[in-house]
Amino acid sequence: MKHELVIVLDFGGQYNQLIARRVRENNVYCEVMPWDTELEKIKEINPKAIIFTGGPSVVTEADAPVVQKELFDLGIPVLGICYGSQLMGYVLGGKVAKADQREYGKTSINVSLNNPLFKDVDATTSCWMSHTYFISEPPSGFEIIGTTETCPVAAMAHQEKKLYGVQFHPEVMHTPQGNIMLKNFLYDIAGCKGDWIMSDFAEESIKALKEKLGGKKVLCALSGGVDSSVAAVLIHKAIGKDLTCIFVDHGLLRKDEGDEVEQIFTKEFDMNLIRVNCEDRFLEKLAGVTDPETKRKIIGEEFIRVFEIEAKKIGTVDFLVQGTIYPDVIESGTKNAAVIKSHHNVGGLPDYVDFKEIVEPLRDLFKDEVRNVGRVLGIPEFLVARQPFPGPGLAIRVIGDITKEKLDMLREADYIYREEIVKAGLDKEIGQYFAVLTNLRSVGVMGDERTYSYTVALRGVATTDFMTADWARIPHDVLAHISNRIVNEVHGVNRIVYDITSKPPATIEWE
Ligand code: XMP
Repeated sequence: MKHELVIVLDFGGQYNQLIARRVRENNVYCEVMPWDTELEKIKEINPKAIIFTGGPSVVTEADAPVVQKELFDLGIPVLGICYGSQLMGYVLGGKVAKADQREYGKTSINVSLNNPLFKDVDATTSCWMSHTYFISEPPSGFEIIGTTETCPVAAMAHQEKKLYGVQFHPEVMHTPQGNIMLKNFLYDIAGCKGDWIMSDFAEESIKALKEKLGGKKVLCALSGGVDSSVAAVLIHKAIGKDLTCIFVDHGLLRKDEGDEVEQIFTKEFDMNLIRVNCEDRFLEKLAGVTDPETKRKIIGEEFIRVFEIEAKKIGTVDFLVQGTIYPDVIESGTKNAAVIKSHHNVGGLPDYVDFKEIVEPLRDLFKDEVRNVGRVLGIPEFLVARQPFPGPGLAIRVIGDITKEKLDMLREADYIYREEIVKAGLDKEIGQYFAVLTNLRSVGVMGDERTYSYTVALRGVATTDFMTADWARIPHDVLAHISNRIVNEVHGVNRIVYDITSKPPATIEWE
C-alpha cells in the first residue's frame, strides 16, 4: 500500500526526529532525510509536503546548508521551522539578521487568525523560541502572520504557493498549540488525509525486511527488554527461523524473568532462541566486587564473551540485529556528557561478532512508538509496557558484594513490591520502581527472637525522561502493606525503608 509521505529535511537541529514523530502522530507517514537530498530525488518521491528543521548554522555564512531555489517551485507545500524558516526567507530574497540577544524560552506570540496555519489557534498563544538570527524582512509575496515582542517575523506565509515559515518550534511541548498548527499544515494546507497507522509501519517493515534479509543468516542479542524484543519479533515475522536469537541469562534478572522470556519467544512466537544460562560464570567473576562501575564493566565484558562463544558456534552471519531506538541514537551522539554511569548495553557487541552488516529496524522510533509496534505484533502487554531495567540487572541493586543468597532475597522482595504496586493500580503512574538490597544489617525482633538482618530499600520515581525524577508519593497504607509482606515473607530481611530523594541529586539506581 502506498501512503501519503511527508519528508523532513534535516538541517542538524535537535528536534528532527521529534518533528517526524509529530507528523506520524497525525497519521501521516513521515521520514527524515538529509538536507542535501537531491532535488531530482525529491521530485521523484513527490511528497505531500516538506518540513525544514532547525539547525545550528547561520544561513548567510558561506558554508551554510541550503536548498536550491527551484525546490520552492515544485508546488509542494513547505514548512520551514527556525533555521528552516530563515533558509526559506533567505533563499527567496528576504533578509536575515542577527538579534541583539539570543531569544530562548517560552514566548508569547500574536498570530493572524485568518491564515489557515493558525485555524483554531488563540490570537495570542505561547511558543518555544531558540534562536539568535531571525528574518528581518520576508521575501516578496510573503505576509507576516505572527510576531513576538522581539521577533518581527515570527511566522510568515505565501499562501498561494503554500510556503510557510515559523521562527519558533511547533513540535515541542512548550508550544502548547503547536500540534494544531502542524495538523493545519498537514491537512488543510498540504491536503493530507491521514492514511497511516502504526500497524502499517509493522507491515511495511516486515515486507522490507523480508526483501533485505530473506535467505540470509541473522543474529540477535535478545535481552527481554522492550527494544530488543520488538526488533526480534519484527525480524522473526519477516524471516522466521533464519533469525537466531541469543539470550544471555546472567542470573541477574528479576524473579521468573528468564523463564518468561524463553516461554514467550519459543512457545508463543516459535522463534529460534538459544538461552545461555551462565549465572555461575557471572557470579564467580563478580565475587567480592563492590564498586558499581567495576560491576558494570565485568558484566559488560562477560556478556560479550558469552555472546561471542555462542555466535562462533553459529559461524559468520550476514546481519546482526540491534534494538537501537531513536533516543539511543541521540545519546550516543552526545560525546560531551560526563559519564555518570556507564551503560554497558550501548555499543560493545559489533566488534566481537563476525557479521557483515547491522540492521536496526527501530532506529527512527521513540520508545512509546516502539511499544505500539510491539502491541501490533502481538507481544504481551506485560513485556511491551515493561519499565526500564538496567543491563547489569540486580547486580547494581545488591549494594556491595553480590552473592546468590542476596540476589534471591532481593528477587523476592522486589517481586512483592511490584506485585503490590500493580494491585494498587499505581504501576502506570510510577515511571520506575524496584527494591534494593542495602548492605546494611540492623537489629530487629521477631517473635521472641532477636534478629540481625538486612534492610531493603524501596525506590519509586515519577519521571518521563529518566534524566530527572521525583520520588513517587506512594500512599502510606500501600507502603505499609508492602513492608509487612516483605518482612514476613522474605527470610533475612527485617527492615524496610522508602527512598525519598529526587534525581538530582540522587540517581534512580542506587549504584
Ligand atoms: P540513573 O540511576 O542513572 O538511571 O538515574 C537512569 C536510568 O538508566 C537506567 N540505568 C541503566 N541502564 N545499564 C542500563 O542499561 C546501566 O548500567 C544502567 N544504570 C542505570 C536506570 O534503571 C534508569 O532507568
